[in-house]
Amino acid sequence: MELKNKVAIVTGASSGIGTAFAHKLIEKGATVYGLARRLNKLKEIQSKLGEHFIPVQMDVTKHKDLEEWVKEQFSEDHLPDILVNNAGLAKFGNVDDLSVEDWDTMVNTNLNGIFYLTRLIVPLMKENQDHCHIINIASVAGLLGNPQISGYNATKFGVRGFSEALFKELRYDKIKVSAMFPGSIATDFFDKVGSETHSNMMQPGDVADTLIHLLETPDNFLINEVTMRPLNPKNPDSKA
Ligand SMILES: NC(=O)c1ccc[n+]([C@@H]2O[C@H](COP(=O)([O-])OP(=O)(O)OC[C@H]3O[C@@H](n4cnc5c(N)ncnc54)[C@H](OP(=O)(O)O)[C@@H]3O)[C@@H](O)[C@H]2O)c1
Repeated sequence: MELKNKVAIVTGASSGIGTAFAHKLIEKGATVYGLARRLNKLKEIQSKLGEHFIPVQMDVTKHKDLEEWVKEQFSEDHLPDILVNNAGLAKFGNVDDLSVEDWDTMVNTNLNGIFYLTRLIVPLMKENQDHCHIINIASVAGLLGNPQISGYNATKFGVRGFSEALFKELRYDKIKVSAMFPGSIATDFFDKVGSETHSNMMQPGDVADTLIHLLETPDNFLINEVTMRPLNPKNPDSKA
């Protein structure tokens, strides 16, 4: 896909890799609708990236709000080409300590949110004469289960299943579907789970370069899954 003048939707655009995706897409000449709950953060990003970044205050767990926005925003004259389902979060803890509320927050954001938006965008992509691409951001936690992250694992394994089914369902409609499975990336994700980033984590810009590569492949060439990790994942400052 040639990215110039393409219309992209990126969820979770207010920080981390979502912001980096928006940045790289705009550098390539695309217009990006950046969705997230914190409008102030989105506006700060627009002041840096310019008018091709369009801030959209949105909670991806609210399917009625998504329906209204998609209906208002898009029509047969203005169709989306790219959807990056990136909004997500983690709540860690032993299964007997994990609250129902935290479980529901993860499922509603990481899994239901992807379904709510994808089901609305797919009909528009089917109308689009050009090839389109949906990229779902899973995690290595979508490939490997581990202690204390069972809820997060469950959502990201779900993203993998959803992505694989959709890639097979939509390939004949000229819609590519890919899932990305990153290891640790230096973003606010870790602050939110009470942990810290370090210099051996991957950088958001490098992960975004991989997203751009997936998008720019020739039309009849699909990378449906990509796993990426820091080569040496150990914190260089750790005494352990
Ligand atoms: N960092 C890592 O090591 C890592 C590794 C593998 C996969 N991932 C995945 O990468 C994705 C992005 O994470 P990140 O590392 O960039 O973390 P981040 O900096 O914490 O970004 C998370 C983004 O998701 C948005 N978000 C959360 N809940 C939302 C909701 N209900 N509605 C709309 N937006 C929502 C946040 O925006 P608001 O708070 O403004 O809504 C924020 O923009 C997530 O799916 C995460 O699971 C991260």
